[in-house]
Amino acid sequence: MESNNLPIHIAIIMDGNGRWAQARGLPRIYGHQEGKQNVKRIVKHAANLGIKYLSLFAFSTENWKRPKEEVDGLMEILRVGLQEERPEFIREGIRVVFFGDRTRLPREVLKEMELTESLTSSNSRLHLAFAINYSGRDDILRATKKISQKVVEGKVKVDDIDNELISQELDTRDFPDPDLIIRTSGELRISNFYLWQSAYSEFYFTPVLWPDFDEKELESAIEAYQSRKRRFGGI
Ligand code: IPE
Ligand code: IPE
Ligand code: MG
Repeated sequence: MESNNLPIHIAIIMDGNGRWAQARGLPRIYGHQEGKQNVKRIVKHAANLGIKYLSLFAFSTENWKRPKEEVDGLMEILRVGLQEERPEFIREGIRVVFFGDRTRLPREVLKEMELTESLTSSNSRLHLAFAINYSGRDDILRATKKISQKVVEGKVKVDDIDNELISQELDTRDFPDPDLIIRTSGELRISNFYLWQSAYSEFYFTPVLWPDFDEKELESAIEAYQSRKRRFGGI
């Protein structure tokens, strides 16, 4: 892997935790625990490689459809994970932010999220985003409402609405569009992740399940990215 021409922003659809556990005859929640361990490993490695922005899709707006037991388990893993990892984020110079609609999240999880954001807000070695209760359509929908409200209030003119203004109303406003989107576990779809932001992203799909996606797998994804020819509509 070359250390120049790195993707500035990598986004990962962390999929396959359930299948990882099922393959071992374990309940799905064990897969999510293992997935959390892998988040630590990949965040650390991305920071060491010099990646500046990393987005991790952790819980989609559709994941509420899962059995209550699994949803509660995931929320607990998030809450405890943030509490445990906060000192490490601070030590490693990692700024943590969260994308998604916060209104439906349990108060105890929200508290950990807000504390993590505020205690890491001055860091800049790696900008790390967890997308929680996030979906691309919901992000665009919420942005549309905010812009409409500004139009109603006379703060924005309809003719002034452009790509830049829309980008600035999305949760991802502080992040550049992802250069590379990785999806683990063999599924070949976006599952409502970054819709607006992925306009010119390079995609990397791997059959490896998220708990098994290690440092070497990340480097393979970056190598694949480095071999692509991006044209952005040009020649
Ligand atoms: C990804 O793993 C984690 C979340 C969606 C929260 P899954 O739980 O979707 O695992 P599979 O796809 O069922 O194996
Ligand atoms: C996408 O995985 C969401 C996250 C990784 C958080 P899903 O497992 O929910 O996606 P589908 O249902 O297979 O499309
Ligand atoms: Mg899945």
